[in-house]
Amino acid sequence: MLKADLAGRRALVTGASSGLGRHFAGVLAAAGAEVVLGARRAEALEEAVAGIVAEGGRASAVRLDVTDAGSVAAALAGPAFDIVINNAGVTHDGPALGTAMADWDRVIDTDLSGVFRVAQAAAERMVAEGRGGSIVNVASILGLRVAGHVAAYATAKAGVVQLSRALALEWARHGIRVNALCPGYIETDLNRDFFASDAGKALIRRVPQRRLGRLSDLDGPLLLLASEAGSFMTGTEIVADGGHLVSSL
Ligand code: NAI
Repeated sequence: MLKADLAGRRALVTGASSGLGRHFAGVLAAAGAEVVLGARRAEALEEAVAGIVAEGGRASAVRLDVTDAGSVAAALAGPAFDIVINNAGVTHDGPALGTAMADWDRVIDTDLSGVFRVAQAAAERMVAEGRGGSIVNVASILGLRVAGHVAAYATAKAGVVQLSRALALEWARHGIRVNALCPGYIETDLNRDFFASDAGKALIRRVPQRRLGRLSDLDGPLLLLASEAGSFMTGTEIVADGGHLVSSL
């Protein structure tokens, strides 16, 4: 029988005030976990928490900036989480020649160093309490292949994939699993306009399934990695992209 029941588990989702993170928090709560939503915008967080509670889930909010070590330490200071979804991320769109170091640093600091800060703080608590856990790092298909104008983002996400392997290797002895989830292009409020444009439609035509991902397309992969259903999986990545990575050369 599939063991994806998360009753009795505490889960943290970073960047949970919108998009994938908000959705992931709802999915984990629906599977029975008590979910803590972390992000910088208190108002958006409270709205997200209220939405999950209204659906019968157990959820609360914590202010969390993954680029700020003090903020990460404070958010992770309580009892150990069983599940941590490292979802917070930013991007920078522009040619490498014109990319300012400030933009490069912002992307690397959030998308790669932020994942390490949160994973390390979470694992410290898990080890201190002598319990294992599951850490799911949200990377991207851009961590496995490249596209134009996203050098910092693709580099950070490739780092997340390799970081997940390195942490899995070191922390398996503590019962902590670390995996990467690599979504393809998922339709959210932020990119809906772009995908309605000619350039967006051309991009969709390059996806073998000829469609964008829906948030719900990530539910199975997320629950597999987060739950005991994936108990023998660590240091690996799951790609959910409609076949985009195997598009014809
Ligand atoms: P989004 O912009 O809606 O969500 C990102 C979240 O991270 C926001 O809530 C934002 O406030 C939060 N965040 C940013 N910086 C933060 C910081 N310093 N501390 C705490 N929270 C911070 O974007 P989306 O699309 O939901 O992305 C979520 C994750 O999924 C990101 O890691 C992104 O790279 C990844 N992803 C998204 C894909 C897509 O097609 N939407 C495809 C592949 C990966």
